[in-house]
Amino acid sequence: MDPAVASDVAVTAADVLAAQARLRRYLDVTPTHYAERFGCWLKLENLQRTGSYKVRGALNALLAARERGDRRQVITASAGNHAQGMAWAAYRLGIPAITVMPKNAPETKIAGVAHWGAAVRLHGESYDEAKAFAAELAAQNDFRLLSAFDDADVIAGQGTVGLEIAAAMSPDVVLVPIGGGGLASGVALALKSQGVRIIGAQVEGVDAMARALKGDRGLRDPATTLADGVRVKEPGHLTRRLLESLLDDIVIVREAELRETLVRLALEEHVIAEGAGALALAAGRRVAGKRKCAVVSGGNLDAGVLSRLLSEVRPRPPRKPRRRVRERLPLPAAKPLPLPAGLLPDLDTPSPSRHRTRTDITEELLA
Ligand SMILES: Cc1ncc(COP(=O)(O)O)c(C=O)c1O
Repeated sequence: MDPAVASDVAVTAADVLAAQARLRRYLDVTPTHYAERFGCWLKLENLQRTGSYKVRGALNALLAARERGDRRQVITASAGNHAQGMAWAAYRLGIPAITVMPKNAPETKIAGVAHWGAAVRLHGESYDEAKAFAAELAAQNDFRLLSAFDDADVIAGQGTVGLEIAAAMSPDVVLVPIGGGGLASGVALALKSQGVRIIGAQVEGVDAMARALKGDRGLRDPATTLADGVRVKEPGHLTRRLLESLLDDIVIVREAELRETLVRLALEEHVIAEGAGALALAAGRRVAGKRKCAVVSGGNLDAGVLSRLLSEVRPRPPRKPRRRVRERLPLPAAKPLPLPAGLLPDLDTPSPSRHRTRTDITEELLA
């Protein structure tokens, strides 16, 4: 058990609302986009500051610490995106931060951290090795060790993604990638009380949370994957406790499905996602729902990896739109026009529901 996470730490939907109030001054709402060929809405956190949702949790943690009067130097370990979020947040608040990343972190993520002026230490071959080293440095120097996912303020900050989804398109299912479980926990806290199903997405061989939720306590080295952001050996303790009660299911995605989804996202929707960022949408292809939303959690992908994927992966052509769309249209009885499929307007395309205000959502969450 991580000693930094006491078993009585609680995070609630009210904490997510408090995080939203803190972050509003600093971060814009990211867009939601209906990906018609996937039949799924996308929450575009690849367009978030620093290219991933991680900045929400990092900034909320720094702001909440300031409110509590905790002025310790912060150190964090990260596969890359949390470090970038932390670096940006520390830069905005004018405080120093130290980040530890595995040596094989994507170049774009290492460069992103350095850009915002945080100190970068590269250590180990995985997130878990970087984390162990960050914990050592924290103990030696009395730094505050901020987990990338197993921290109440980080979880509450990530939950603001869920509040924004609810305000934009009233989902019945939300799909979220899972590494340590911070994003899924926060989003579930924000949306579960509104009857939304929350489905996690993991990659084959990188499924520590799925195994932990089934009671398997053994730790296995995660497989190599395009989704470096979720390559975690040991999921969070706090997050596991939350997800035990809040998560509806986890879909395990094959590496080939992930690669194909990433390429289709780029070519069909013109959305650049990193591996972990395409994971929820890949899982969503196996989940039914009238108003599905997948969180595209990040877009920090090395240019070389993207160009290789675009040249190697040949996605199958998407299925034709369903015929029943045409059947519903009142065609002239005498001489039906021989229109090709696809030229008719899609009467089934979901449109956003009435735009709900923050007050609506606050009242629902606190009810
Ligand atoms: C792009 C991206 N998506 C998803 C995740 C997984 O998040 P969590 O550890 O909160 O489950 C990460 C973690 O770094 C990430 O960078």
